[in-house]
Amino acid sequence: MANSRPVHWGKESLAYYRYSSKRPPRELLVTTLRHLATESTRARPGRAIDLGFGGGTDTLELLRNGWTVLAVDGQAAAADFLARRVPPRRRRALTTVVAPMQEVELPPADLVYASYSLPFLRRPEFRTVWRRIFASLRPGGHFAGQLFGDRDTWSGDRSMSFWRRAEAVRWTAGYRVELFRETDEEGTAFSGPKHWHVYDLILEKPPRGRARAGATARPTTTRSRK
Ligand SMILES: C[S@@+](CC[C@H](N)C(=O)[O-])C[C@H]1O[C@@H](n2cnc3c(N)ncnc32)[C@H](O)[C@@H]1O
Repeated sequence: MANSRPVHWGKESLAYYRYSSKRPPRELLVTTLRHLATESTRARPGRAIDLGFGGGTDTLELLRNGWTVLAVDGQAAAADFLARRVPPRRRRALTTVVAPMQEVELPPADLVYASYSLPFLRRPEFRTVWRRIFASLRPGGHFAGQLFGDRDTWSGDRSMSFWRRAEAVRWTAGYRVELFRETDEEGTAFSGPKHWHVYDLILEKPPRGRARAGATARPTTTRSRK
């Protein structure tokens, strides 16, 4: 049976960053970048915000793909770890902020990426950050990231946020839904086996002039998590 618990950021951050730096860029980021590359000219790399960048593998992938990145994480250990990984020629394109994301004013952006970080916000903090993400996105800009579902092993941890499917669908309101993928399966985490209940999202803020889109979730698929 799943016995994993969430990472204690602060105490265990560095160990987690070392562990996660061994993996390739997340599949969701790769899918998002591929999707943007097939869209029209407005999807050219611009400014991305990486919320909760952790070990920095995905920040590096954004930089490698030509994005200017504002990377935000609450842990100084994340910034130190990332600083050591950034090639000198990419440094000018990266700004790193160490702060709780709910306290950061987000500048205008073409992509806001939040990989496995928003679930670590309490519900009121999540609402604040979610509002700010929408406000920061330029028309035609994208959000990619995850929310956790109510059947996740860690659900019940009051320092985090978990959502029923209908609630997760409601959070997509105002966006055009490009991916809504629900995973509900056994897997593993840094801290051990766990049940993952996750919604992977790729959302587009409608370009100016296009009617506001409703939530149109695509069919559910599942994929393995590590
Ligand atoms: C599970 S890790 C994910 C890291 C990376 N995005 C990835 O996909 O591997 C979550 C990260 O979010 C950061 N984090 C959690 N709560 C945060 C908050 N309120 N503000 C800023 N960063 C936060 C943690 O420090 C950690 O680095």
